[in-house]
Amino acid sequence: MIDQRLKSVIRDVPDFPEPGIIFKDITPILKDPGLCEAILDAFEARLQADAIDVIAGIESRGFLFGLMLAQRLGKPFVPVRKQGKLPYHTVAQSYALEYGKATIEIHEDAFIAGTRILVHDDLLATGGTVTATSQLIQKLGGNIAGFAFIISLDFLKGSERLTDYSPNIVSLVG
Ligand code: PRP
Ligand code: MG
Repeated sequence: MIDQRLKSVIRDVPDFPEPGIIFKDITPILKDPGLCEAILDAFEARLQADAIDVIAGIESRGFLFGLMLAQRLGKPFVPVRKQGKLPYHTVAQSYALEYGKATIEIHEDAFIAGTRILVHDDLLATGGTVTATSQLIQKLGGNIAGFAFIISLDFLKGSERLTDYSPNIVSLVG
């Protein structure tokens, strides 16, 4: 099963980036091309591709599989970036993170109104990042088709914040 394969390689790093935080390090996944393919296979099997127009990936770890997934599904990829990184006109949204605060941005011409967007990130913790991303997408008139994560930290109940945006939440490791 994909969840067991992932659990065996995702590395818990205690007290990073701050004391008390256990960091889920996905870099060992990236060293295994077969496992990366298996992740894409699992996403493809669990997502309804014909209900998705665009994949939005969240900087920075959401870029890794976001673009790969977009390529696999034959869909456009749109980056959601941290403040000040996108060069063209942007729309911004601030949010509270598991640790600290942040602002994310998207290009104002990233997609047209009515586009159905799948939001991808590596990990769902409090849900602050994807909630802000969903608000950003809605500011531009996009519809949230669903969410796809490699990992969700279920004890933080982040998915409860997402159901207002879409009931379609895929997570490979709970
Ligand atoms: C991490 C992780 C998610 C987010 C989850 O990213 O990759 O994007 O936090 O937390 P939340 O559900 O509580 O919002 P981080 O901001 O550390 O940046 P990075 O991806 O650039 O490493
Ligand atoms: Mg991130």
